[in-house]
Order: sequence, then C-alpha cells, then structure tokens
Amino acid sequence: MPEVSSWLESLESDHVMAGSTSFVRKFLCDPQGVGALAPATRTLAGSVARAAREAHRRAAGHDGVLQMLELGAGTGALTSEISALNPVLVEKDAAWASLLRLRFPGLEVRQECALETLASLSAPCGVVSSIPLWNNPQSGQLKQLLQSKYAEGLLLFCVLYTYGWTNPLRKGVFRHAHRASFVPRSLPPACVWIYQ
Ligand SMILES: C[S@@+](CC[C@H](N)C(=O)[O-])C[C@H]1O[C@@H](n2cnc3c(N)ncnc32)[C@H](O)[C@@H]1O
Repeated sequence: MPEVSSWLESLESDHVMAGSTSFVRKFLCDPQGVGALAPATRTLAGSVARAAREAHRRAAGHDGVLQMLELGAGTGALTSEISALNPVLVEKDAAWASLLRLRFPGLEVRQECALETLASLSAPCGVVSSIPLWNNPQSGQLKQLLQSKYAEGLLLFCVLYTYGWTNPLRKGVFRHAHRASFVPRSLPPACVWIYQ
C-alpha cells in the first residue's frame, strides 16, 4: 500500500517524531486532547477535503464566500488539502501553532481553545474539526457548541472524522448528518462525517 508507506515516511519528519512539536510526544503528554499517535494520512486528509469543498460549495452560494475554521489544526495535515478554502487555523498547542505559522504563512493562525472560538462566533462559517470526540473531557462542550451555533445560523456546516463507526453527534439538531466516507487507509481507519 503506497499510501501507508508514504505515511510511514512522513512519520520520520521532524514535526512527527522529534522536537517540541513531536506528535508522539504530545500524544503521550495529552492523549485525550491529541487523540491520535500520528497526523492524518494523506488519504484521510483528501477525504475530509472533498467533503469540506462540497459542503462549502453548497453553503457559500453564488458568491462562493464563506469563512472557514479548522479546529485542532495540529501539524497541518488537513490544512494542506483545504488551504484553498482559506481557513482560519485554530490550535491550542503553542508549538503546533508556531509550526502552522511557518507552514502556512498566508493563513491566519489563532493559538486558542476552539471552545472560545466557537463561543465568540459573530458571522456564519463552516467548520472542519480534528478535535478528538472520544474520551476527551471537552468533547461534551464542543458538541453542544457546534449544535447551538448551528441552531443560531452561525455554523452552516461541520466536517469531522472519528475512529469509531457511529455518528458522534447523533442527538444533534443538524438537518442532515451523514457518513461521507469510510477511510481504511488511516491508522486507525476513520469515518468522515458531514453535518449541514
Ligand atoms: C488528532 S490531532 C489532529 C491534528 C491534525 N489533523 C493533524 O493531522 O495534524 C487533534 C488536535 O486538536 C488539538 N486540540 C485538542 N483540543 C483542542 C481545543 N480545545 N482547542 C484547540 N485545539 C485543540 C490538539 O492540540 C491536536 O493538535
């Protein structure tokens, strides 16, 4: 599987294996907040990006303008695939926020908690989120905020991925929620969900 071998090669890059931005090190320090041992594979990032582009196209209407937020941007594995949507990158970890500024000098990077970002929304936006929803003490608040901002008309869509099979926001208020794809070429395999 060429995808897995290129993913394994990417594990050897600085920001994944070593230094202050190491994924493995950060996972060991904060397993519930980081939620994965490694960044999203290119296949997973591609599936998320396809879902985000489609949701953005539908939500943005004729002028094609809609603010995008990427929550929990980490090392930027998803950002590389959605950068054309000009997302604002939100990352709570200082070292990863610095890495994102280096990798994506054209994008706005906010080093802050995504709960604050969502709570202070004042204009409609679309969201791509990598924030872990399983076993993360903030996941209840995050789900609640996504739902309340959607009900207020400030969140037009949300694309996220999980390592479980079931719908992580199933009791929500979203008109449409569906599994856009199952991605076996991800470690572990993941499901991409669209809410709109
Ligand atoms: C699974 S990692 C995703 C990383 C990214 N998709 C990648 O592949 O590089 C989850 C990310 O969410 C960030 N995170 C977790 N809770 C957060 C919060 N409340 N606000 C902002 N970022 C958060 C973590 O620091 C981590 O970078």
